[in-house]
Amino acid sequence: MSIPSLQKDPTSAGTLHSLGRRQFIKAGSMLGAAALLPSLTVMSQSSTDRQSHMQSSRRRLGSLEVSAIGLGCLPLVGYYGTKLDRAQSISLIRAAFDEGVTFFDTAEVYGPYFSEECVGEALASVRDEVVIATKFGFGVEEKQPTALNSRPDHLRRAVEGSLKRLRTDHIDLLYQHRVDPKVPMEDVAGTVKELIQEGKVRHFGLSEASAASIRKAHAVQPVSAVQSEYSFWWREPETKIFPTLRELGIGFVPYCPLGRAVFTGTINENSRFIKPDRRATVPRFEPDALKANMPWVAFVRDWAERKKATPAQVALGWMLAREARIVPIPGTTNIAHLKEFLGGAALRFTREELRKMDNAMARLKIVGARIEPFGEGQIDH
Ligand SMILES: NC(=O)c1ccc[n+]([C@@H]2O[C@H](COP(=O)([O-])OP(=O)(O)OC[C@H]3O[C@@H](n4cnc5c(N)ncnc54)[C@H](OP(=O)(O)O)[C@@H]3O)[C@@H](O)[C@H]2O)c1
Repeated sequence: MSIPSLQKDPTSAGTLHSLGRRQFIKAGSMLGAAALLPSLTVMSQSSTDRQSHMQSSRRRLGSLEVSAIGLGCLPLVGYYGTKLDRAQSISLIRAAFDEGVTFFDTAEVYGPYFSEECVGEALASVRDEVVIATKFGFGVEEKQPTALNSRPDHLRRAVEGSLKRLRTDHIDLLYQHRVDPKVPMEDVAGTVKELIQEGKVRHFGLSEASAASIRKAHAVQPVSAVQSEYSFWWREPETKIFPTLRELGIGFVPYCPLGRAVFTGTINENSRFIKPDRRATVPRFEPDALKANMPWVAFVRDWAERKKATPAQVALGWMLAREARIVPIPGTTNIAHLKEFLGGAALRFTREELRKMDNAMARLKIVGARIEPFGEGQIDH
């Protein structure tokens, strides 16, 4: 795998120091803890340490300001086997907010609808303090996602539904979930532009869009963020997407930043996945491929030991260190896991460490596609 060179000063470039109201209120009592953090291991952080770090290391996606790590609200619908009920989902989302997370990622098709409903209910009382991102772009019939559909009339209906479920009058960041080859990007961007003018949407995003589509969209309505898969074992966005985003001043939101749990230390060669667990259909997780991919697990464990951190913290800390414009959105159904991975915001890597990691990764092979052929057919190249 070819690995593009790093940006200058990757470790500190993303830190913003402006604090919002909630952050300002809490920061006063936390400055002491923050000053101590470099001498603590991220594994031994308290909740207060984590909040402090989340609040002092905010990042920008275009002109949106968000916590350095957001919460992906897909797994709670049962995407990886464990399904939460409404009360559990709301507790999880509130726990993330209490830990300093201000960026929440959902979509019309997560459930469908259930994830948006939980996000809306959990965050209604703190709506002005959070950034809610959702997505349109599929049809939904009888509560099941159908084909790609970004036609302007459908897009407008999807937004009205999302606004209701999210219990809000505006969506902070609205992504097109997948580029629809049947609808010109100019029409999609033009419709989102109108929705922004109407006050229903604040920022425009794209997911798994090619550099050419990003440029087309951005020319009509400035794009704030692009969301695509990105983690140790899927670094393709570094080739064409990252340079385009740097040039246009657009943020990047990695999805599956924990490699669907591979980089958390909880998966081994004997792990097996049964539908509806999404991994049951991903070639990289088939038994032979999984076994062959175990060196990736060893790699992240090795770095976790070196950094006195957990594997999930290394996975997130590494990508935060690579670019100031990156804001990962790991997903979980487990509050303990949430608290653990948020510690990744405090992890720092030197340029030499990042180089060593690149060298080690360049020697690792990846067996199996990241996505099955049907899903691959919906990716915009
Ligand atoms: N735009 C798109 O097309 C697209 C596609 C996929 C995902 N997304 C978004 O990206 C978000 C993140 O991706 P993802 O959730 O699919 O994958 P991910 O973040 O790479 O991995 C989630 C998995 O990791 C496990 N996990 C998390 N923290 C852990 C920890 N500390 N220890 C052990 N296991 C841990 C979770 O299990 P537990 O529940 O047991 O913690 C879950 O199975 C999604 O939630 C969604 O919002 C977007």
